Amino acid sequence: MADNLIAAGQLHDPALAAALTAVPRHALVPHFYQQAPNRSWTRVDATDSSYYTTVYSNTTLVTALADLGAGIDEPVSSSSQPSLMIRMVEALDIRDGQRVLEIGTGTGYNAALLSHRLGETNVFSLDIDASLVAMAADRLAAIDYRPTLAVADGAAGLPEHAPFDAIIATCSVPAIPSVWIEQLTDGGTVLADVKVQNTAGNLVLLRRDGQRAVGRFATRYAAFMPLRHTVHATIPNATATAVAISHHRSAHHAVPERDTDALVLPTQQPLLWFLTALRLPVTVTFGYTIDPERREPSHVHLYAADGSTSHVTIAHDHDRHRVSETGPLRLWTHVEDAHRQWTQWGQPDWDRLGFTVDTTTHTQSLWLDEPENPIATLPR
Ligand SMILES: C[S@@+](CC[C@H](N)C(=O)[O-])C[C@H]1O[C@@H](n2cnc3c(N)ncnc32)[C@H](O)[C@@H]1O
Repeated sequence: MADNLIAAGQLHDPALAAALTAVPRHALVPHFYQQAPNRSWTRVDATDSSYYTTVYSNTTLVTALADLGAGIDEPVSSSSQPSLMIRMVEALDIRDGQRVLEIGTGTGYNAALLSHRLGETNVFSLDIDASLVAMAADRLAAIDYRPTLAVADGAAGLPEHAPFDAIIATCSVPAIPSVWIEQLTDGGTVLADVKVQNTAGNLVLLRRDGQRAVGRFATRYAAFMPLRHTVHATIPNATATAVAISHHRSAHHAVPERDTDALVLPTQQPLLWFLTALRLPVTVTFGYTIDPERREPSHVHLYAADGSTSHVTIAHDHDRHRVSETGPLRLWTHVEDAHRQWTQWGQPDWDRLGFTVDTTTHTQSLWLDEPENPIATLPR
């Protein structure tokens, strides 16, 4: 796996390559779950012929499932894609002797890589799920790594072991907790996936400078499972919301259909979706209808818990798309506003977007090109 990642230009740091070679992923991921097209999950372990190939491939492996209230099993923990983990650790630019806190222990695989790289006394990792921490501790000890592990809500950091030179979050957060910045050394870095509404945002790398932390978004998109404040917390789910909405629909009259030239496919245009989500006054989930022949979305749907919906028929041969909406809010107008602004700004990509956390004013702002040019504030 290390050789493949080096050959693919995804692994550059020799010390990390050594960690990847030394740490046996199979010892920390003795089984994982694979999802079939019908959405059912199959458990795969060392008795399956594909197990070792898959464990040593550059793939995310789902390692824990739970029904979070939607009546279906959803992933609640995974061993993240190795190239993503490497990209994140390389971006943090950690040096010998530095102390790192990981939010989201999961399998312990990343904690093992960090322990190999920095020495186990410099590695701290916590997870909200006590059973995952217990399993990770046992499996890490069996391969001779004993980083400090804790069961805690990562939103509070790990004050008893602060300060850290770096904090890496392997679950997404709706905003960067101020305490993370306070638990960093001055000049220390935090790398986390900021996702407003659980689905909109990207990785951001911030460096502490006094009471502020400033930095830019990663140029490549990544997505982690959201931080949960309790083990069984519900994560808003598009399917569940869609079912709930169908009960509401008759209660609200649809407004006349109209055309729009503003389209956002949240999974394909994550930056535009982020700019949209920052404007949305309510939590919105999305879904697609897939055209079975073209194998691409024919419609995109937005659903809000108050019963507001937008259904957009995607015109693949021209740029006027058909919008039909129901419920009290016109959700698609926020897509149109975000699209207009994005066009006015010259259609920026992630490299032009940055982020500032101010721990004295408790504000988190998004900026374009320079911190002096704020364009949005994250919801508190
Ligand atoms: C993608 S997995 C972590 C992968 C892990 N770093 C590894 O190498 O296997 C995300 C983890 O975040 C954890 N998590 C979710 N909410 C959390 C919270 N509030 N505090 C700490 N961990 C949390 C989940 O239980 C899950 O194990």
